[in-house]
Amino acid sequence: MTTIGIIGGGQLARMLAMAAARLNFRTVILEPQPDCPAAQVANEQIVAAYDDERALDALAAACDIVTYEFENVPVAAAERLALDRPVFPPPKALEAAQDRLVEKRFLNDSGIATARFHAIDSQADLEAALADFGGSGVLKTRRLGYDGKGQRVFRSGDDSPQGAFEALGSVPLILESFVPFEREISVIAARSTDGTVACYDPAENVHRNGILHTSTVPAEIGAATRDTAHAAAKAILDALGYVGVIGVEFFVLADGSLVANEMAPRVHNSGHWTEAACIVSQFEQHIRAVAGLPLGNPVRHSDCVLQNLIGDDIEDVPAWLAKDNVLVHLYGKTEARPGRKMGHITRLT
Ligand SMILES: Nc1ncnc2c1ncn2[C@@H]1O[C@H](COP(=O)(O)OP(=O)(O)O)[C@@H](O)[C@H]1O
Ligand SMILES: [Mg+2]
Repeated sequence: MTTIGIIGGGQLARMLAMAAARLNFRTVILEPQPDCPAAQVANEQIVAAYDDERALDALAAACDIVTYEFENVPVAAAERLALDRPVFPPPKALEAAQDRLVEKRFLNDSGIATARFHAIDSQADLEAALADFGGSGVLKTRRLGYDGKGQRVFRSGDDSPQGAFEALGSVPLILESFVPFEREISVIAARSTDGTVACYDPAENVHRNGILHTSTVPAEIGAATRDTAHAAAKAILDALGYVGVIGVEFFVLADGSLVANEMAPRVHNSGHWTEAACIVSQFEQHIRAVAGLPLGNPVRHSDCVLQNLIGDDIEDVPAWLAKDNVLVHLYGKTEARPGRKMGHITRLT
């Protein structure tokens, strides 16, 4: 039986492992936290850090193919594994997605519009860049930001940015121009080993406190906007010689044009609805792609709304279970902390 190694043991790896099992694949998880969400449903867990060389060699020895559930896998770890085993998505995709500056340049080089941006390595850089953008912009750490963490928004007429470089940790930053978007969408797309691309319809995303709250499908966009989003996703996948599923976030402007925000070289929270509303979910699609199998048809059989269960929302589970047309998916996390993703529901509409 073919074994797939997954780096990272959170809910995304858990759902990948479940999809893998349905297609007769074994899974081995590399994750330092024992009894992680993924290990509860996988065949085996190697409990070690993601950059532990002995653990990486053990993972390569135990698996036929290696994939990952998060974009901050150390590139050196992915490259070490790639000497022994196919690693999908390719380590190149990690490099393009780990640093917001590199990511924006890559997107622009691929013909995809983004917000304007400046690299910020000092308080003086910040002040000059803000002046260039008329006093507004979104300041972000270049690396390791997620769920709106490591960010600060400036609006014209705000207080002086004094101390902002230090407040974000005196690390390399990026200042993006503020995009006056009408809505946010994301596309989940997949590319197979033979270069076939399949795109799910865009979802419309609403965030609360920086964390995804709902994804609604279909998004309120026209066919031209949808086609542009799909073409951008395909351009990214082809440029990277990608294999697997990717999530690409866009801002939609009033005229329907798109500005790419960021991409995640993995299955994506805004694609969880596919398990309820499509024959082949993003998780199975990813497993099919990395295993060299034909991609599934991404067509949707139902409209739907995905909603994350964050922290105490887990207490609503009995009420969700009592409703018709709701799929509940929980992540096996015992402690419900504020802001922690505990599960999600998808309501068919
Ligand atoms: N340049 C921008 N202009 C306007 N809003 C932005 C901009 N960048 C980010 N945002 C808002 O902040 C949210 C989080 O930013 P994002 O870059 O997606 O970081 P994260 O990695 O935390 O998801 C976005 O979904 C969007 O709502
Ligand atoms: Mg985002």
